[in-house]
Amino acid sequence: MKKIAVVLGTRPEAIKMAPVVQALRESNFLTPVVIATAQHREMLDQVLDIFDITPDFDLDLMRPNQSLSELTARLITSLDECIKKIGPSAILVQGDTTTVLAASLVSFYHHIPIGHVEAGLRTHDMKNPFPEEMNRVLTGRLAHWHFAPTQSSADNLLNEGISADTVFMTGNTVIDALFDARKHPAKVVRQLPPGHRLMLVTTHRRENFGAPLEDICNAVLTLLDNNLNLQVLFPVHPNPNVSSVVRGKLGQHPRVELCAPLDYLSFIAAMEAADIILSDSGGVQEEAPALGKPVLVMREETERPEAVDFGVAELVGTNSAHIVERVQRLLDDPSAYREMARGASPYGDGKAAQRIVEVLESSLAMAESNV
Ligand code: UD1
Ligand code: UDP
Repeated sequence: MKKIAVVLGTRPEAIKMAPVVQALRESNFLTPVVIATAQHREMLDQVLDIFDITPDFDLDLMRPNQSLSELTARLITSLDECIKKIGPSAILVQGDTTTVLAASLVSFYHHIPIGHVEAGLRTHDMKNPFPEEMNRVLTGRLAHWHFAPTQSSADNLLNEGISADTVFMTGNTVIDALFDARKHPAKVVRQLPPGHRLMLVTTHRRENFGAPLEDICNAVLTLLDNNLNLQVLFPVHPNPNVSSVVRGKLGQHPRVELCAPLDYLSFIAAMEAADIILSDSGGVQEEAPALGKPVLVMREETERPEAVDFGVAELVGTNSAHIVERVQRLLDDPSAYREMARGASPYGDGKAAQRIVEVLESSLAMAESNV
């Protein structure tokens, strides 16, 4: 069996790689070796539990309020040792985190081919999202297989001169994960009083730290003042740059429930229970449309334009008055709401992981027969 090292750092990487680990477990030719860098700790562990993944190596690298440079340095040193021990035939990374960039660089130094899952997403603005856009571009230069979730992400890679025979349009594994997770018994979100509406909010992007996050919280407060039947559920990201502001601004409001990050099954239940989702998350932008929930994206630009083009997601930025206006429109106008809640799954059909593993199997088998 050929060993495929699967590197996981954060919550979204674990969610989106879980189906790939599962598909590798079912392969007759490849076997997964899971490396958890634990760039995230509790939030990673929550996902590993649900998807029944026990890492073969756990580097336990998270530190409170870690800086990008110190985290990168720790990742490179620890991953280097780990990759030397494993000696994999290929390495898989997912997305755009510091873990992804560090693992790609280490693989390159060891002449081990890298497969990039969720390749080709671009805003073409290096400051938005920061540092993720640069991480994607650099990983794109280092990768050997590019698993693009959509045609537009594949086109971004081709436009950058990446060879077409290394780009594979697979769909996004997040849809596989969502379908898998929904096979578990549904979790229950607290019942709201009749006539009440639920708004689910998440935020964690670096470019929203400081004044934009204050504006987001002010928008939530204004919406609560203007809509006495509105309840807010806000799982708060543990990054202190987020939690201190959110808890300070919203912690006392009787119709705001602030909670720790929800496990994936509970979060899916919360998305299903919500009337409106307000978020700056990448993964949530992909899942909400598949669940038929309008998602208002608190960013100036997105690398996931498909749902916006379908009219089921909208970029609302972080200006307080604008957020209030766009949410209020959905609360007040049933036909605008229905239009955004009609559901669509531009990011995949639930079979992305299988396609990724098939590419690896045939490519590594071919490499073997050429030796
Ligand atoms: C990281 C990724 C971002 C991704 C996000 C998913 C980078 C540069 N950023 O951002 O792309 O969208 O994860 O959530 O890779 N913390 C905990 N417990 C946890 C996780 C985080 O306490 O389980 C706190 C720690 O204080 C940690 C801080 O959050 O130092 C920041 O974590 P980090 O992974 O560096 O950045 P994120 O903002 O989570
Ligand atoms: N999510 C979760 N619990 C929460 C909030 C989000 O399980 O309390 C899931 C969500 O369903 C999605 C993923 O986490 O699959 C998104 O992670 P995050 O927003 O942290 O990162 P991003 O996708 O922006 O990189």
